[in-house]
Amino acid sequence: MILVTGATGNVGRHLVGELLCADAKVRALTRDPATARLPSEAEVARTDEMPLDGVTSIFLNPAVFWNGLGDLLERARDRGVRRVVLLSSAAALNDDPRNVVGAHHLEIERAIEETGLEWTFVRPGEFATNALVWEETIRAGEPVREPYATARSAPIHERDIAAVAARALLSDGLVGAKPVLSGPEALTHPRMVEIIGAAAGIPARFEEIPPEQARAEMLGRPYMREGLVDALLRMRAEAVDRDVEISPEVERITGRPARTFAEWAADHF
Ligand SMILES: NC(=O)c1ccc[n+]([C@@H]2O[C@H](COP(=O)([O-])OP(=O)(O)OC[C@H]3O[C@@H](n4cnc5c(N)ncnc54)[C@H](OP(=O)(O)O)[C@@H]3O)[C@@H](O)[C@H]2O)c1
Repeated sequence: MILVTGATGNVGRHLVGELLCADAKVRALTRDPATARLPSEAEVARTDEMPLDGVTSIFLNPAVFWNGLGDLLERARDRGVRRVVLLSSAAALNDDPRNVVGAHHLEIERAIEETGLEWTFVRPGEFATNALVWEETIRAGEPVREPYATARSAPIHERDIAAVAARALLSDGLVGAKPVLSGPEALTHPRMVEIIGAAAGIPARFEEIPPEQARAEMLGRPYMREGLVDALLRMRAEAVDRDVEISPEVERITGRPARTFAEWAADHF
């Protein structure tokens, strides 16, 4: 039995689908089974109950564990779980202590390593789904206002992350691996806005704003703490005019090329 935490999320929902397609037994966790719309072939359970009976592998999504993992890893090991596949982050490559995103993921990685369980740390860079925060603005015909117009990244489709996680759970080839994942092309946010506009059939626009203005706006969003906002802005600043490394891992691991941002936009707009 594979336990999927964050099963209704961007990555989790695709992962549950992939695992069921491979005939795996899946226990999908959500805070609210009544509204989760998870497939009937999956066993659905409540996150706060964290039922571990019969579980051999866990997909761990840090988004579910804002307040820490508690004794989950120790309980998992004691209950016979053998493998943990962590949705980590490419930010873990940067061990600057001011980089709270990287530090948070590294801390979880280290805790998992210490358990002696088998592990895979899937380390994606920027999710294409982050662009969904622009949806309302774009549909309203307003410009997307952000700093660092020339910063580039290679946004990755959540389906590709799920496909890699599925391989890590279903086969032994990625045990002890930390694959860094990216999309197939380096893009600026203005270009991403343009691509979304083309997919939605709307003339979408981008307007650069000073970082201080962006910081104030970001602090108004749910779950955005000061340290996190500053780390996210620092990552964008560091990406200005920098070469972006395109990872070959999605294709190497799954056998199919990473999906483009235009494919992602067509799936969502
Ligand atoms: N965004 C990026 O660019 C990026 C880059 C690298 C790594 N990551 C990693 O990926 C994670 C996000 O993955 P994702 O987009 O698949 O997740 P997500 O869609 O944001 O969340 C997954 C699920 O977790 C549950 N959840 C959300 N907040 C929760 C909370 N406070 N307590 C308990 N459950 C909660 C929700 O399910 P229910 O409502 O059904 O309970 C949600 O559907 C990040 O936390 C980070 O670790 C992100």
